[in-house]
Amino acid sequence: RKSVVRITTGSQALDELLGGGIETLAITEAFGEFRSGKTQLAHTLCVSTQLPTSMRGGNGKVAYIDTEGTFRPDRIVPIAERFGMDPGAVLDNIIYARAYTYEHQHNLLLGLAAKMSEEPFKLLIVDSIIALFRVDFTGRGELAERQQKLAQMLSRLTKIAEEFNVAVYMTNQVVADPGGGVFVSDPKKPAGGHVLAHAATVRLMFRKGKGEQRICKVFDAPNLPESEAVFQITPGGIAD
Ligand code: GTP
Ligand code: MG
Repeated sequence: RKSVVRITTGSQALDELLGGGIETLAITEAFGEFRSGKTQLAHTLCVSTQLPTSMRGGNGKVAYIDTEGTFRPDRIVPIAERFGMDPGAVLDNIIYARAYTYEHQHNLLLGLAAKMSEEPFKLLIVDSIIALFRVDFTGRGELAERQQKLAQMLSRLTKIAEEFNVAVYMTNQVVADPGGGVFVSDPKKPAGGHVLAHAATVRLMFRKGKGEQRICKVFDAPNLPESEAVFQITPGGIAD
């Protein structure tokens, strides 16, 4: 039997909200407005996952699927230094791939499963899960097909989390709800509908506070209280 490993986010408040950190054997989704810190948390987890478990890490490698071209290796350096790790070694343990279509994204996941059976991975990042689907399926008439393909990809992520005892961290976008033809100028809903809602084990909603302050709220979780955590985006990554 595999046991859950909890990986620190770098913020004690956020870890407490999550019951100890980002969990393996599960999919954690972060959604929220632009610049709310979703990608910065991904970068921080790239490093903290490699910490020993005695330091609330996962003692494992990281796979990063980037659909928006926002991964910054340079950003890893100060975060690694903050955690007292060698930046070069940390970067060597991040397997990075840029995806350009949803099919490419799916194929990358298939390739990763092979890699994960050979080497000890503890985190898979998909930033963002939905962006390419929104580009590749544009018409209203394509929505059913999009949701079907999205479901297939999410089921692949669930399998990876369970088979390799890996934490999956995926980001999502917020969209305006077009219900009733009403235009909503302040989008708040996560994209992906029920398909995404059901696949995610934990859904986190991020929003901006003052300056570098950010607020995270657990969204729709039956087993966690609907409370909030305040964290900061610092040069060394996510912190209190
Ligand atoms: P989208 O992908 O656009 O939806 O946003 P996101 O939620 O992924 O936002 P992201 O994590 O990229 O956060 C961007 C914010 O992080 C910036 O507005 C800065 O406040 C902060 N940030 C980015 N890089 C640095 C850095 O090198 N140092 C510090 N201190 N803050 C940074
Ligand atoms: Mg981002």
